[in-house]
Amino acid sequence: MSIIEDPKIVEITGRTRVLGILAHPTEHVKAPPGINRIAMMRGRDAVMVPLNVAPADLESFVASLRVLKSFDGAIVTVPHKQAIIRLCDEVSPQALAVGAANVLRRKPDGRLIGDQLDGIGFVEGLGDQDIAVSGRSVYLVGAGGAANAIAFALAEAGITRLTLANRTVEKIETLAAKLKGAYPALDVAIGTADPRGHDLVINGTTLGMNATDPLPLDASLLEQGMTVAEVIMEPEITPLLQAARETGCRIHLGRHMLDHQLQLMANFLGL
Ligand SMILES: NC(=O)c1ccc[n+]([C@@H]2O[C@H](COP(=O)([O-])OP(=O)(O)OC[C@H]3O[C@@H](n4cnc5c(N)ncnc54)[C@H](OP(=O)(O)O)[C@@H]3O)[C@@H](O)[C@H]2O)c1
Repeated sequence: MSIIEDPKIVEITGRTRVLGILAHPTEHVKAPPGINRIAMMRGRDAVMVPLNVAPADLESFVASLRVLKSFDGAIVTVPHKQAIIRLCDEVSPQALAVGAANVLRRKPDGRLIGDQLDGIGFVEGLGDQDIAVSGRSVYLVGAGGAANAIAFALAEAGITRLTLANRTVEKIETLAAKLKGAYPALDVAIGTADPRGHDLVINGTTLGMNATDPLPLDASLLEQGMTVAEVIMEPEITPLLQAARETGCRIHLGRHMLDHQLQLMANFLGL
């Protein structure tokens, strides 16, 4: 078969819609192959490419997206998720609550709309694995973009108790105050590295990506019957998940969050 007839080759023409993944650096990003596969499966003439933009250039770059008529939107990731909020023309209530957006849509008139799908992706990933959320108690370590989004999505999904822990305590105090304001019935507490007494234990930090990282919580206190979930995708089995498995906990991988987010992001980007 000639290369021009190969159905697996994505043909980029003058009509192809351009999508991006806005990050710095971009080498580690995981979403483009998945989004491009979804575009192909849905028969959409669109392609996602990496957009490596340094923080100092973000504002001028985003301004140029308003006039880029072949551009439909982007996934926004580290380190731009917070900064992108004030550069959008409109942001969803979820993105405003979390203080970060992870997707950006360009409307035909050039307006840029930001939204936050990290948390809902995580909660849908749990649901897909039949891990119940409503009525459960949750221990969440982390206070960055991912942890904030997960906390709000879990509150929205009906958890009853949430214990927050993080290296920088001021950040979880801020998060706890925001959650209490938005969900007055939710029992929110500031915790330590001790995850005992919860149904679901979640690592929402970056700890576990590198082999030399300390554990994000005291894994010797994990209990059988708990579900231990990760946001980290690589390695698939982090030292925390390994410890949880050895204790007899159920484990939940970081890739489930991404799998669900990809569909949500594809929908948001108009694929
Ligand atoms: N699976 C998915 O679909 C998905 C989606 C989004 C993100 N993620 C992953 O989620 C993780 C967090 O992302 P993010 O955007 O939330 O990052 P972030 O905003 O930079 O937050 C990082 C978090 O990790 C903590 N942390 C970092 N280094 C630490 C250390 N040495 N000791 C203790 N705590 C430390 C930070 O604590 P401080 O507040 O004290 O700095 C903070 O809570 C990343 O691994 C990312 O790849 C996965």
